[in-house]
Amino acid sequence: MILLASEENIKRASEVIRNGGVVAFPTETVYGLGADALNKDAVIKIFEIKERPLFDPLIVHIDEIKWIEKLTIEFNEIAKKLVEAFWPGPLTIVFKKSDIVPYITTGGLNTVAIRMPDNEIALKLIRYSQTPIAAPSANKFGYISPTSARMVYEQLNDKVDIILDGGKTRYGIESTIVYIENEDVYILRLGAIEIEKIESVINKKVIISEKVKSPGQFKFHYAPYTRLIIFNSFDEVENKLKNYKKVVLISIKRENLKLPDNVIYDFFSENGDLREVAKNLFEKLYYYDKMNVDIIFVQAVKEEGIGRAIMDRLRKAQNRY
Ligand code: TXA
Ligand code: MG
Repeated sequence: MILLASEENIKRASEVIRNGGVVAFPTETVYGLGADALNKDAVIKIFEIKERPLFDPLIVHIDEIKWIEKLTIEFNEIAKKLVEAFWPGPLTIVFKKSDIVPYITTGGLNTVAIRMPDNEIALKLIRYSQTPIAAPSANKFGYISPTSARMVYEQLNDKVDIILDGGKTRYGIESTIVYIENEDVYILRLGAIEIEKIESVINKKVIISEKVKSPGQFKFHYAPYTRLIIFNSFDEVENKLKNYKKVVLISIKRENLKLPDNVIYDFFSENGDLREVAKNLFEKLYYYDKMNVDIIFVQAVKEEGIGRAIMDRLRKAQNRY
């Protein structure tokens, strides 16, 4: 059931967490499907509900820095710098885990991914639950991440007791995940915090490599069931439109296009602001996926700032077919 995230309902949800249940809740990135990160039986329910493979580790959400000491065995200088600069916020840091973190939470790894969300509802839920909350995005495995309570409800309705409604999420795209080794920062997943910002905090380049990737970075992901194709120029896409009966075409900013009748046209942002594109991305894909069209064409963005994460998500969505 969807409940408005009032003080009372957040408390009610925290009771569910304390009793080993599962709750969907908003963060600043996307909605999460949360359970007590330190309770194996609770965490396993997340995997069941999502139909997620057990080797795909979860992110542990905390409300206070003091949890790092309990959950990890090393908090180095670079991690401290990143925490200071970006928490609370959409940066997830992978640490070496302590014994209290169960392996089910970390997909069998000796490391644990931690972040402090920048969302009052999420922070209160953790505080009232008095435990860190493990939470993946609240979607079925492989599908589009939810950015509203309604999107969670339509995917998981009967499987979760409570979906806390905190409105549309602010970033609309997941956290950036980093791993630190020998003073180097590796990007395991592109996300809402731009790598340029991380580089300016650590005063050196980050490492983005195909070789060092999180488990759980699958070839396809975040994907609508409808076929999705990325295009660069309108010239390129124009003569493809007639090959389909019903087409959706989504541009980055509002365009004045002459399009044939079989095309439903939309845009992600009035003037092409990439933050706004990220915010609307999953919602639009989700919406058009339900419309039973033959194909969704989506315009590419420039790969800088949050544009990198947007292109990462689009490519993975394109890879379903
Ligand atoms: O913004 C977010 O990060 C959202 C909200 C709910 O916080 N959460 C999220 O979780 O995106 P999820 O499960 O969809 O993605 C978690 C990913 C895993 O698939 C894996 O790639 C990475 O985080 N991960 C988790 N623990 C890890 C670890 N110990 N080492 C490396 N990667 C890890
Ligand atoms: Mg996810």
